[in-house]
Amino acid sequence: MTPATPSSSSSQARPRILTGDTPTGTLHLGHWVGSVKRRVELQSTHECYFLIANMHAFTTRAEQAGDIRRDSMEIVRDYLAMGIDPTQSAIFLQSEVPAIAELTFLFAMLLPFNRVMRNPTLKDEIKIKALGETYSFGFPLYAVGQTADILAFRPVGVPVGEDQVPHLEMTREVARRFNQIFCGVSEHAEDADHVRLGGTFPVPRADVGAVGRLVGTDGVNKMSKSLNNAIFIADSPKEVQKKMGKIFTGRQSPTEPGDINNALFQYVDAFITDPARVAELKDRYARGDNLGDGHVKQEVAEALNKMLEPMRERRRLYEGNDAAIIDILRDGCQRANRVAEETLAMAKDAAKLGYFSRRLTLD
Ligand code: TRP
Repeated sequence: MTPATPSSSSSQARPRILTGDTPTGTLHLGHWVGSVKRRVELQSTHECYFLIANMHAFTTRAEQAGDIRRDSMEIVRDYLAMGIDPTQSAIFLQSEVPAIAELTFLFAMLLPFNRVMRNPTLKDEIKIKALGETYSFGFPLYAVGQTADILAFRPVGVPVGEDQVPHLEMTREVARRFNQIFCGVSEHAEDADHVRLGGTFPVPRADVGAVGRLVGTDGVNKMSKSLNNAIFIADSPKEVQKKMGKIFTGRQSPTEPGDINNALFQYVDAFITDPARVAELKDRYARGDNLGDGHVKQEVAEALNKMLEPMRERRRLYEGNDAAIIDILRDGCQRANRVAEETLAMAKDAAKLGYFSRRLTLD
């Protein structure tokens, strides 16, 4: 497969963005609504890099290496199914971009240990996953690693969910500190001026999507694989119908005035595409005009299946075809390495670590 490069890594013809996912399982409608849909839109106007954070998955699942590998491959299938175009966007593995690991080591020197441990996302994870005092050294290190994932690409923005904002804040601190101590950028410089003033790294902003959260089929919690309330991109039409049918609203009869802010109507808003029909459903539901939950669920399920069908079809092209996925990853890693190696060379020069140049090749 010939690598398709939209523009040379240094020309920055299109603004560059980077984002990623930790491989924890296949993707669901929450991922689509909260983030992947936006990426699909961005890929025609931006130079996009989508990272599979497979090293980060080892922070809590080192003894499940086989599962991490499987989940990494499945995420690529879901990306492709949802419309990420590998000839436009680079889909790549964190573990195959050595500059990320090297920058992690360097950036770890720029962050006070206590600063890392105060990161609210890390603290939440320790609580939610009940990691106690037994987590690996690599667990807090992953937050430093995430600053390297991002800065290796010198992106203008990072499309992420709300929960990732603390990581972005730390990334911005690393960029500022690096530029100040190695590139002579003043402490008083505005974030937007760092590169113009000679800084190696832009100070990237978090680009938090409008719809950050989709409620799960339990009608209460955020959609999540581990809560068993998710509709997956790869679910069959029957499964979609069955899961939609489970959404609990508490409404008793089709003539009872309904609450159009309930879980079911979040799905109506997110997935029924005709605004006039949405308005009509809301009006009749709110008035209790003989519109049953079952009917609304059926209509949402049909809309969902209509949206998912082309995704299922694209996914089918890659099912059982690991070789095609590996080809896409190799191409993505090649393109990612081109940028990340360039960044690393710049950073090493700035930090007086530039002794030789080097070339990285993948087989
Ligand atoms: N921590 C992110 C998550 O769990 C995944 C991730 C890793 C990421 N590196 C990144 C996201 C860089 C954005 C940018 O979802």
